[in-house]
Amino acid sequence: MAKDVGIGLVGTGFMGRAHANAWGGVNRFFSLKHCSSMETVAGTDAQEASTFARKWGFNNSTDHWHSMLENDSINLIDITTPNHMHADMAIEALNAGRHVTCEKPMAGTLEDARRMRDAARKASRKGLHAWVWFNYRRCPAVAFAHQLVKRGRLGRIFHVRAQYLQDWGGPETPLLWRFVGKEAGSGAHGDLNAHIVDMARFVTGDELTEVTGAIEETFIKERVLPEGHGAAISGKGGRRKKQTGRSTVDDCLTFMGRMKGGAVATFEATRLATGNQNANKIEINGEKGSIRFDFERMNVLEWWDNTLDPGLRGWNRIMCTDSDAHPYVANYWPAAHLIGYEHCFTSMCSDILRVLGGRRSVVPLPDFEDAYITQRVLHAATLSARERRPVKMSEVK
Ligand SMILES: NC(=O)c1ccc[n+]([C@@H]2O[C@H](COP(=O)([O-])OP(=O)(O)OC[C@H]3O[C@@H](n4cnc5c(N)ncnc54)[C@H](O)[C@@H]3O)[C@@H](O)[C@H]2O)c1
Repeated sequence: MAKDVGIGLVGTGFMGRAHANAWGGVNRFFSLKHCSSMETVAGTDAQEASTFARKWGFNNSTDHWHSMLENDSINLIDITTPNHMHADMAIEALNAGRHVTCEKPMAGTLEDARRMRDAARKASRKGLHAWVWFNYRRCPAVAFAHQLVKRGRLGRIFHVRAQYLQDWGGPETPLLWRFVGKEAGSGAHGDLNAHIVDMARFVTGDELTEVTGAIEETFIKERVLPEGHGAAISGKGGRRKKQTGRSTVDDCLTFMGRMKGGAVATFEATRLATGNQNANKIEINGEKGSIRFDFERMNVLEWWDNTLDPGLRGWNRIMCTDSDAHPYVANYWPAAHLIGYEHCFTSMCSDILRVLGGRRSVVPLPDFEDAYITQRVLHAATLSARERRPVKMSEVK
């Protein structure tokens, strides 16, 4: 029977907007048994939350997110707050009988992530779900890459080469929560490596067994303090104070790893790769072929078919907009009428609603159990960097 899933969104910032847009759009683009219903948005400022609710189509707003747990029309709490708040919010919501979707990284620390995983395990016995927004899985090109590997088109995998390069973290960027260790947990590492570790695990279907050779660096040690919220991700347009404060997170973290299937993997995350604005990239080299993806050209998957006659081999540029072949795109526009960043979130909402309606997601959704494995890899890389040694994944429980 058709059912509305009442959404309670926490946070009105960058991700608050991305999620509100997706929950609002999913019923228009997808025909689903369960539909989203925009119940309440919670922010830190009542006036701002009320303006947000009007703009994005929520029925109610509040500056006290706990009140959403008393509203029986809310079935799912969607968390888009800074990283240190994820654990307590997710656990409270699960204990109050709500499904949870939480932004990445799952948490700022492994301990918080473990508490979340344990709460989700317990809540799953009551039929509750908990997922993390690794939204890049739902770029059609990435979802297609996952399907190609699953069908064996790459054969044995030798290399996984993943990079997430941004350049907004220069000295002019103020000391936003993203640079405060107690709030963010880590810098580029948790922010960006979280995505590419998830992407490597998702596309290959393989797991890391060891992490080694990690290097972290904080290039900009002092930053000017921002005044209040409301600025863009890089603090552009926000007011600043004269005083400065110490950045307590990494600006970059690079590491290597070994995978169960024998592949060697490299990961690089930085906010200071001048000229790279959102270059979330992965290349996978296998015995039968290779694939390459760069989010800055998100509709394209590059493919090298090594099973062809040598004279025919070359990089193919696959426009992943064929409604018969590529995941999700049949719900949007005709071939090569490109989709963007926001569609990955809308497609994730559709998979969440499919699962809540008793169906399977188009490609796997990262639940707390799955996201905890990514968090363990991040923790192992931090240990490797700080203790300057290889770390076996079996060490990180
Ligand atoms: N999936 C992605 O691609 C992606 C991209 C950017 C950020 N993120 C993640 O999303 C989360 C939020 O990042 P952002 O860029 O939206 O940050 P942001 O600073 O733009 O927004 C954070 C929001 O949290 C709200 N908030 C803080 N405390 C609150 C409380 N007690 N109750 C209600 N609201 C509260 C703030 O008012 C603000 O609206 C982080 O975990 C970040 O890592 C994910």
